Amino acid sequence: MAEPAPRPTVAGGQPRGVGSGGRGVTLQVAGINTFYGKAHILFDVALEVHAGEVVVLLGRNGAGKSTSLKSIIGMVPVHTGSVLFDGVEITRLKPHEIARQGLGYVPEERRIFTDLTVLENLEVGRQSPRAGVQTWDFERIGRLFPNLARMPQRPGGRMSGGEQQMLTIARTLMGNPRCMLLDEPSEGVAPVIVDQMAVAIRELKAQGVAILLSEQNLRFAQEVADRAYIIEKGRIRFSGTMAELDANDEVRAQYLAI
Ligand SMILES: Nc1ncnc2c1ncn2[C@@H]1O[C@H](COP(=O)(O)OP(=O)(O)OP(=O)(O)O)[C@@H](O)[C@H]1O
Ligand SMILES: [Mg+2]
Repeated sequence: MAEPAPRPTVAGGQPRGVGSGGRGVTLQVAGINTFYGKAHILFDVALEVHAGEVVVLLGRNGAGKSTSLKSIIGMVPVHTGSVLFDGVEITRLKPHEIARQGLGYVPEERRIFTDLTVLENLEVGRQSPRAGVQTWDFERIGRLFPNLARMPQRPGGRMSGGEQQMLTIARTLMGNPRCMLLDEPSEGVAPVIVDQMAVAIRELKAQGVAILLSEQNLRFAQEVADRAYIIEKGRIRFSGTMAELDANDEVRAQYLAI
C-alpha cells in the first residue's frame, strides 16, 4: 500500500470554522452553474453546511442532486460560481485534492473492491491524520457500524448491498474528513440497514462531522437532517429547517414524490 501523500498547503489564507471547533460555515456553495456538454444542468445552485450540521438535498429523479455533489467534489467542472470549504476556495481543485482537504464523498454507486476484504477496503481509504479530527481506525469504524466489526475478513463481493454501502461510508471516513457528502445513502438498502444508517449519521454528527446528503427518501431525511434544500430541474426551490418543510404541504407536494 502506498504511503499517503502529505497534505498540500492551500493558498488563500487559514482555514477557519470547524477545525477549531467554531460554528463557522464548513461548506459554502455560491451560485454554481454546471453543464454536461451543452446541456445546462445546475442553475445558480447555492447552499451552505455549517459545522455540526446534517443538511439534506432533496429532489426527485434527475433533479440535479448527484450533479450538485459531483460539482462540489470536482468530478464535474463548475462553469460559474464558487465552492468554499472552510473558507478556502476549492472550485477548480481535483477530486483527490479536495478529499485531502478533509471533504469526503460517498458516491451513489458503491465503489468497493469486491475481491478485497473489509479491512483491505478500509486501508484503501486511509489518509494521514488531520488536525482537529480524531483519527479513524477499524475499532472506531466498528463502533459506528457493528456489522462491519463482525466481518473484517469478508470479501466485499460477499456482502449485502447495505453492508457494502456502510463499507463505502467507512472507507471515506478512513480519510478523516471534517465534512462528508453522501449521495442517497438509503437508496436500494434494506429497511433494517436504513435504520442503522440513520443511527450512524446521527452519531457522526455528534462526533463533529458535518454532513450534506442527497435523498429522495423524505422519511429518512427527517430522521437525520437539521435543514433541507429542495432541488428541482437544477434550481433550489426551497430552503429551510426540517420543521419548516414538515409544515409546508404545498412544497412537499410540488417538488417531492410523496
Ligand atoms: N453524464 C451525464 N451526461 C449528460 N447528462 C447527465 C449526465 N448525468 C446526469 N445527467 C442529467 O442531468 C440531470 C441531473 O441528473 P442527476 O444525476 O444530477 O440527478 P439526481 O437528482 O441525482 O437523480 P437521481 O435521483 O436519479 O440520482 C438529469 O437530467 C440527467 O439526465
Ligand atoms: Mg443521483
